[in-house]
Amino acid sequence: MRIETRFAWNIAFCFCFGVTVAGYISYRQESRQAHEELKQRADMLLETALAVRAYTVDQVAPAMNKLKDAEFHAFQVPSFAAQDAMRRLNKKFPEYRYRESSLNPTNVGDRANDWEVSLLREFQSNPELRELVGESGAGRDRRFYVARPIRMTSPSCLQCHSTPDVAPPAMLAKYGPVNGFGWKLDDVVGLQLVEVPTADAEAKALNSVLITVGSLSCVFVLSAAVFLLLLRRHVTHPLDLLTRVAHASSLDHEIDDAQLPAVGGQFRELQQAIERLKTSVDHALTIFERGRQDPDKGG
Ligand code: HEC
Repeated sequence: MRIETRFAWNIAFCFCFGVTVAGYISYRQESRQAHEELKQRADMLLETALAVRAYTVDQVAPAMNKLKDAEFHAFQVPSFAAQDAMRRLNKKFPEYRYRESSLNPTNVGDRANDWEVSLLREFQSNPELRELVGESGAGRDRRFYVARPIRMTSPSCLQCHSTPDVAPPAMLAKYGPVNGFGWKLDDVVGLQLVEVPTADAEAKALNSVLITVGSLSCVFVLSAAVFLLLLRRHVTHPLDLLTRVAHASSLDHEIDDAQLPAVGGQFRELQQAIERLKTSVDHALTIFERGRQDPDKGG
């Protein structure tokens, strides 16, 4: 196998190995970064919802109580205000989904599905657990989620979630006396959940890996091509010429000096050495031949 071919194979092998390792590391890194970004945005949404909840409890509800309005307004309900604000935000960022669900919800639309029930159970069985982060679903439907428990930390919640007889009658008229009652202080009564599809983040990560691998390949292929060309021009080609000269000399073919190819660089010295060797051998052979033809003159 020619030197260039052997070099090319070795370089190609190193390149494939290097690019695979670099691509894998870069994909892991990009994917982790994409998930961190998703997590940050999900945290932001959860905190925004909490801020809306707190605003309703601290500002809206007391103001409404002062007005002594007999009518029940959903906007004074922390959960309604938070979910409504999130629905509005959802129009701008449709990929994000926010939900507040419960095992025993006031609004039946907030009833936890099977998967949410399992998350709620986890929070209920582990009071130290502050957050659950993970992925659910498969393929294009794969979603990244962040869930946090909603605890009944304030006695103000009891007014509407303890027993129907203390709840505002207008609320009972709207939601009925069955659902969303019997909750106790410090219980995990619901779940705050943000979900976002991972497909876009993964496509972004893959795209940036392809860009990295693509640019690496360009640089590498170009460098390898230049290297192999230089190797051919300055090493293997002169070596071929010298091999031809050495062959011709060893087979005692007459080589016309004018036809001797000119070899450049460090190989010129080698060529000159071979020529000198050839002259010395020719000279020695001439003396030897002369000695054989005229043995008396010899020593
Ligand atoms: C003025 C009455 C009222 C108060 C006070 C109140 N809630 Fe509610 N809560 C409701 C109503 C009504 C709903 C249903 C809202 C809707 O239609 O989405 C609700 C919904 C919820 C939900 C979503 C699940 C469901 O039941 O539909 C959670 C969780 C919740 N409330 C927790 C709390 C907590 C915690 C507090 C105390 C900070 C609180 N609520 C204070 C009336 C109230």
